[in-house]
Amino acid sequence: MRILGIETSCDETAAAVVEDGVRILSNVVASSAELHQKTGGIIPEVAAREQVRCIIPVIEEALKDTKILGYYDTKKKKKKSPNILVSQYPSIDAIAVTIGPGLIGSLLVGVETAKTLAYVWQKPIVPVNHLQAHLYANWLERKHTKHKVPDFPAIGLVVSGGHTELVLMKGHGKFQWLGGTRDDAAGECFDKTARLLGLGYPGGPAIAASAAKFEIRNSHSEGISRSEQFEIKLPRPMIHTKDFDFSFSGLKTAVINLTKKLKNQETEKRKAEIAAAVQQAIVDVLAEKTLRAAEKYQVKSILLAGGVAANKQLREQMREAIGDKRYEIRIPPPKLCTDNATYIAGYAYFNYQPVSWQKIQASPGLRIC
Ligand code: KG4
Ligand code: ZN
Repeated sequence: MRILGIETSCDETAAAVVEDGVRILSNVVASSAELHQKTGGIIPEVAAREQVRCIIPVIEEALKDTKILGYYDTKKKKKKSPNILVSQYPSIDAIAVTIGPGLIGSLLVGVETAKTLAYVWQKPIVPVNHLQAHLYANWLERKHTKHKVPDFPAIGLVVSGGHTELVLMKGHGKFQWLGGTRDDAAGECFDKTARLLGLGYPGGPAIAASAAKFEIRNSHSEGISRSEQFEIKLPRPMIHTKDFDFSFSGLKTAVINLTKKLKNQETEKRKAEIAAAVQQAIVDVLAEKTLRAAEKYQVKSILLAGGVAANKQLREQMREAIGDKRYEIRIPPPKLCTDNATYIAGYAYFNYQPVSWQKIQASPGLRIC
């Protein structure tokens, strides 16, 4: 079964065709991140306008990339460049679209386009919860790796720009919410501290790149954890609480206070060190709580997902911590952690519940479950 996925929940405009929930036939992403660099964050109106401009070319590109599709012009009955409104796509079985959560203007672009295509092409349409779908990046096949789908039950950690969610997944579509952030999301903490340090947008990759320039130099490091070796001490909010909630706004405040104390010159000199300390604090909390949830619920897999799961330190630390424990960890390749439409299509295959196009609506406040 081949599903065309469409994703426009934040500042990306993405389309992808995925076969049987695992095989990526095409994956096209247009990001307006460059436009937001000037403002240091997303302006929803700017993002939506850009998506209106990009959505049709992005979908056309995704269909064109899927070389096996053999699109044809219905009037001339011969192959030509795709024009999605007059062509037929016999090889596409369904359309999947993100309905939420996200920015209303952005979501509407994807949802209304998907509805129109479902009507014109007479194809089933599947509404998709963006947060649940992120986890399905772990079901996608990888080049040069023998494919094995994750085992249930699983703990899922979804860490993105607007969300930090821990869920127990007992099967496809069977989600139990365990906890989430009480204030800022992990990605938001990366973005806000990057802005404070003048590192640009999006903050996650910027903090990670700056942190990579800092090497911990401690001659007495044996037996001391990586986190303890930092001279800059930042809090690990809620790391010891028994629940599975998170809080990252205090960490941002701690960085504000630190930069005030250090003054401009010293902050500039120690930027990489501060970035590394912030990254370490965020990663420590995420890793600790996720591992604790995995132990408590005796799961078979841990699934990471969302833009922050692209973070190298988080990936390495989680893999190290798992060691030879009885469960395995799955982390999508960085490119599939950040927003794209492959996992939207993948999710729709494993949770195939098409609805009439008249019933699909953007739902900006949708929760993970
Ligand atoms: O999942 P995503 O692409 O979009 C949302 O659904 O929000 O996540 C975007 C978030 C941003 O906050 C960005 O700074 C963060 O993911 N991010 C990273 C990295 N790459 C993206 N955070 C830490 N390290 C990274 N390498
Ligand atoms: Zn996302």
